[in-house]
Amino acid sequence: MEKNPENPVAAQYDKIYSEREAAFNSGKVSPLILEVGKFIPEGGKVIEFGAGQGRNSLVLAEQGFSVTAIELSEVGVNSMNRIAKERSLQNFEARIGDARENLEGEYDSVVSILMLHHLTRVEAEEFILKIKEHTKEGGVNAIETFTSEGDFSKLPDAKGRFYPELGEMRELYSDWEIISFVENKSMATATRSDGSPMFNIKTGILARKPFREVL
Ligand SMILES: C[S@@+](CC[C@H](N)C(=O)[O-])C[C@H]1O[C@@H](n2cnc3c(N)ncnc32)[C@H](O)[C@@H]1O
Repeated sequence: MEKNPENPVAAQYDKIYSEREAAFNSGKVSPLILEVGKFIPEGGKVIEFGAGQGRNSLVLAEQGFSVTAIELSEVGVNSMNRIAKERSLQNFEARIGDARENLEGEYDSVVSILMLHHLTRVEAEEFILKIKEHTKEGGVNAIETFTSEGDFSKLPDAKGRFYPELGEMRELYSDWEIISFVENKSMATATRSDGSPMFNIKTGILARKPFREVL
């Protein structure tokens, strides 16, 4: 996909990533991501949507998986590819792309960390159906997102965006094996008008696609 200069989300994150080297969670990998490798084969195919600056995708590539990182921000993509080159990770490719586009192929794992709140509810539900379909049998999805409980979901630009209810992500994966499911209070770097930190209940799910029964 070509860079789309008119996409305000891409522009927002281009700015953030130009100003900060490790914009989210101080660049530390999400604990959920460290679980992924326990459930997929050595060298398995992984795709991440909304990969940002690569704090998760690059760790999966370092673990030997074959990783594609999709991201709207060109600055994010360039930064991930530069780091991968510095670390001689030939099994990693970041490219500009949109989670709402068609997806080709099948993956051992599909990952998305703190991206879904940028999609509308309809887009997010379509996205989840799509990644489930493009996951191999026995493969896993790892998703972390903000729920409707917390400050982010009440911001003016959150209207119509996907902030699942408590328990909803588990429901969306009720036809898969739930390996882990958490809902935790987390502090954001963004602040309220009085300067106090914003809080959200974040949810994280790791779910495995069942093998089709052979009769
Ligand atoms: C809060 S950041 C999280 C980045 C990264 N996953 C992390 O946890 O460090 C959200 C990211 O999702 C990306 N994003 C938002 N909407 C997207 C879309 N439709 N397709 C691909 N990436 C998207 C943004 O550009 C941004 O980099």
